[in-house]
Amino acid sequence: MLTRIPLVDTKPSITTFQQHILRQQRAHWPHATGTFSWLLSGITLATKMTEARVRRAGLLDILGSSNAINVQGEHQQKLDIYADQALIHCLGMRDSVAIIASEENEDAIVFDGRKGEGKYVVVFDPLDGSSNIDVNVSVGTIFSILALPPGISPEDDPQRAVMQSGVKQLAAGYVVYGSSTILVYTTGHGVHGFTLDPSIGAYVLSHENIHMPTNGNIYSCNDAYFETFPTNYQRFLTALRRGETGRSYALRYIGSLVADFHRTLLKGGIFLYPPTAKNPNGKLRLLYEANPVAFLAEQAGGAATDGRRRIMEIEPTEIHQRVPLVVGGLGEMQAFQEFYSA
Ligand code: AHG
Ligand code: MN
Ligand code: MN
Repeated sequence: MLTRIPLVDTKPSITTFQQHILRQQRAHWPHATGTFSWLLSGITLATKMTEARVRRAGLLDILGSSNAINVQGEHQQKLDIYADQALIHCLGMRDSVAIIASEENEDAIVFDGRKGEGKYVVVFDPLDGSSNIDVNVSVGTIFSILALPPGISPEDDPQRAVMQSGVKQLAAGYVVYGSSTILVYTTGHGVHGFTLDPSIGAYVLSHENIHMPTNGNIYSCNDAYFETFPTNYQRFLTALRRGETGRSYALRYIGSLVADFHRTLLKGGIFLYPPTAKNPNGKLRLLYEANPVAFLAEQAGGAATDGRRRIMEIEPTEIHQRVPLVVGGLGEMQAFQEFYSA
């Protein structure tokens, strides 16, 4: 009796990030020319270059400070510079990119000779969580993609090209270089996660349609600054600790926004970086940290504010503008709002 041997491997089929983008493109932008997916592939390539350095950081001369100070007044780590250069190089190879802005560069960067060809604006934090690099704690890359506003010349008016409110984002995402390397992104049609499979060098779909739990059991903030938080933040956190919001919580704080947010996205709860004495407007940057995180949070069913305003409706006034950030599941965000406005 003949035994039938399946013609193809019966393992579940894999979906790579590239396939997922093309599927999204066919479903939502059937007339797209593919320049957007080509742009996204430039970002994923740069993150794979950075990931290769992060994984072997202890073996390469890539740890520690570069002794340079960036526009933020912070010591640039060698890996900050490498990740920044990788993104600039890979995006520079995409003709559809008109202008970019990076945490590591004071001014926006316009690619020469693109007159009229560039359609997109990309803003990014090339390496988030720099203080954690040398101690092998998760770090990441955060990006946000916008359209070049009609009638704006990136050469003549770079500020207006880049400084757009978060509702204008076409896509946003991050890569967290953690126990595994995970890319999470949205184009406004849900939030999807991909795990880098080193054996094939591709990001493979691992978390489709991520939803942030309405209620969680973790709150996340740098408790060392509690005494300098505004009193309404202190009131909320004290109530949370005492179980007065009806739930019990643990505190988890990694100190890398991408990692603290990734956990909040998957497990729910709330992350807060309030105004402090050291950073009266908050520490996190609107364009390339708060906005992409807010887009992802909202797409996953959560919310993100600066304490009062919806993050994505804040009109930027500077490229490196800082804002307070409160982001989490709707249950905790509602509870925060009650104490904030009390
Ligand atoms: P970056 O490394 O890009 O400058 O970002 C660091 C940010 C963010 O990742 C994190 O949430 C926050 O700094 C931690 O700040 P504190 O060390 O003040 O808590
Ligand atoms: Mn950062
Ligand atoms: Mn950074």
